[in-house]
Amino acid sequence: MAAQQTLWAQFLQPLIRSLLDEQALQAFYESKDWQTEGDRFRNPDLTYPDYYAGQNFHGITDGYLNPGAAVSYDPITQYVLPPNEDWVRQALIDAIGGQPRRILDLGCGTGSQTLRLKQAFPSAAVTGLDLSPYMLVMADDKAATAGCNITWRHGLAEATGLAANSVDLITIALLFHETPPAIAQAILHECFRLLVPGGQVAIVDGRQAALRSVEWLNRVFEEPHIQAYAAGDLDTWLRNANFQAIRAQEFWWLHQITVAQKPLLAASPAPATASGHWAAAV
Ligand SMILES: C[S@@+](CC[C@H](N)C(=O)[O-])C[C@H]1O[C@@H](n2cnc3c(N)ncnc32)[C@H](O)[C@@H]1O
Repeated sequence: MAAQQTLWAQFLQPLIRSLLDEQALQAFYESKDWQTEGDRFRNPDLTYPDYYAGQNFHGITDGYLNPGAAVSYDPITQYVLPPNEDWVRQALIDAIGGQPRRILDLGCGTGSQTLRLKQAFPSAAVTGLDLSPYMLVMADDKAATAGCNITWRHGLAEATGLAANSVDLITIALLFHETPPAIAQAILHECFRLLVPGGQVAIVDGRQAALRSVEWLNRVFEEPHIQAYAAGDLDTWLRNANFQAIRAQEFWWLHQITVAQKPLLAASPAPATASGHWAAAV
């Protein structure tokens, strides 16, 4: 793990170093053959888009395609979701209505939200999808430790390849501030296609209005797409994708939790474009 390149090293390390067991993290990192582990999930047909592969997220070279990012993700995240990570993640679960039977967590990362979903809805079939095979390695490790049966899938949230009308609930936690708005819009079109009529999408991320007022913080966190995300409006993106019953709630000023529904009488989804991406109008 190239410690000097991480956000942890550059900004958070002085603050939280004393709270972390760095030796244990380093030992964990060295305990895995990342190529082999990643191959357990890697989809060889996947082409990484430039907004993802060509970027350094959080100051980490190669972003989430660097296994070091996967190892340091949870230790950092617990300190960057005020007032605390558990409350933010539980607030998303509390916003979900009913008892979904098939759940898809897009941009699932190390599975922190995915595991909580499985624990909240134990009889549901839960799938986590992410573009980084190394994040999926970490997610699978955590699921095994917790005894959670979750399917992990390496793929693009905006072109999942999953069947239309096949999911009751889609969750999206902390993904949209890391994608260009056109991709966030494309992901919502894909959600509409995947959901059954009456199905829900539930999203937690930085509150866009709040982020617009703390531009300096966005620079500190070295997020390549966060300014564009902050300038946008999730409710508008949901309406563009034909979602209804949009309910947005502010959570501890910095976060927004939004739930929306695919109408019960929704028309059949339009076909994807030749590239597999939805024609996005943002
Ligand atoms: C900030 S992390 C959030 C992870 C997790 N949802 C959580 O709540 O901790 C963003 C994740 O989105 C993934 N990601 C980014 N763009 C993606 C895309 N287009 N399709 C699928 N995953 C994507 C990254 O690999 C990363 O794991």
